[in-house]
Amino acid sequence: MSTDLAEAPTNDSGVQAYTVTFIIRRFDPEQDAEPRWVDYDVELYATDRVLDALHKIKWEVDGSLSFRRSCAHGICGSDAMRINGRNRLACKTLIKDLDISKPIYVEAIKGLPLEKDLIVDMEPFFASYREVQPFLQPAKAAEPGKERTQSIVERERFDDTTKCILCAACTSSCPVFWTDGQYFGPAAIVNAHRFIFDSRDDAADVRLDILNDKEGVWRCRTTFNCTEACPRGIEVTKAIAEVKQAVLSGRR
Ligand code: SF4
Ligand code: FES
Repeated sequence: MSTDLAEAPTNDSGVQAYTVTFIIRRFDPEQDAEPRWVDYDVELYATDRVLDALHKIKWEVDGSLSFRRSCAHGICGSDAMRINGRNRLACKTLIKDLDISKPIYVEAIKGLPLEKDLIVDMEPFFASYREVQPFLQPAKAAEPGKERTQSIVERERFDDTTKCILCAACTSSCPVFWTDGQYFGPAAIVNAHRFIFDSRDDAADVRLDILNDKEGVWRCRTTFNCTEACPRGIEVTKAIAEVKQAVLSGRR
């Protein structure tokens, strides 16, 4: 492995290249009884991302490597994975920000059924999301030809939680979710928050009632793993605390 930054070769733009070792947790349900770790040495530029490394492996070394990705720019939320033990988006993790003097470990997110390599079954995650009714429910129809307006302050109340891209990095970093797959998980609560605190919505009571369940907000142990994992910088633990407070006070 090349680790001497000064001696590394460069591309036409002067960006240095390195050989980086990736150790990826592979699992093929048709062949493997258990997941296995496989090493790959990959030539990369410091400006490359972990997603570029996975593409290189898939396209040049082993086409059977399976992972999800779509936008490649931190918007679709499909490539959350554990990189060196931390949940991140592969498309937002630059090689230059990792310690390439050591191998980089990549594995699927935890707490959801493993399907193949870096792909998990997201259905339990989306089932919890659907349960909190993540859509606007006003009591009355809008007046013909008029928008439902709200003030800047009203809009700011839930601005942070509108940024969620449903990547599951938070939920799958939560130790409560690992041990109890029934827990709604941080992402569902974040998306409930987004509508509970929307002044145009009238179904907050319904959502608060749903989250006052034994598998709802009270399972949160405030470990902050979710906030640290969120690639959108959402204050996930704070949002959960606000929903807890709303359940207790009956006010939003
Ligand atoms: S809150 Fe953050 S980490 Fe959780 S699903 Fe949304 S974007 Fe991903
Ligand atoms: S590929 Fe879309 S967020 Fe990473």
